[in-house]
Amino acid sequence: MSTEHNDDRAGAAGISRRSVLAVGAVGIPGIALVACSQAKAPQSQLATESSASAATGSSASASGSASAVTGGKALAKLSDIKVGEAISAKGADGADIIITRPTATTVAAYSAICTHQGCTVKPAGKELDCPCHGSVYDLKGAVLNGPAQRPLSPVQVSLSGDDVVAG
Ligand code: FES
Repeated sequence: MSTEHNDDRAGAAGISRRSVLAVGAVGIPGIALVACSQAKAPQSQLATESSASAATGSSASASGSASAVTGGKALAKLSDIKVGEAISAKGADGADIIITRPTATTVAAYSAICTHQGCTVKPAGKELDCPCHGSVYDLKGAVLNGPAQRPLSPVQVSLSGDDVVAG
């Protein structure tokens, strides 16, 4: 009898321990899930912002029209950029950017911050090279060689005569 009683208590204690373990097993992934969802929220927001920027376009065409002038801060001279190449410059906020000239009358700009680990990308002929781990981007900011996986973020620019201007 006393053995059964002890077994019951042991059983009760066993259930209690199992319950605690079960709560712990559920609780830890639950906490991890919350932590992951909080950590991923800014990335999702960035991806949305990046997509919105890409959707608005980042290239500008002079097209011989003065109506394209936006009056933003001058960032570079179009004549300083060889057709089919790029230059390093500073954005309106002082951030490092790359300005490309895909054709004689068009420009585009991208953040110079490598999407791998944040080094500053440099123009190299018809490509953009990251000196840190060897990522290579094309003049549209797309990854040609990793380890970077995501394209460079577009920066809005336009042409005002020979000036490449912000906005
Ligand atoms: Fe550019 Fe790693 S930071 S390749």
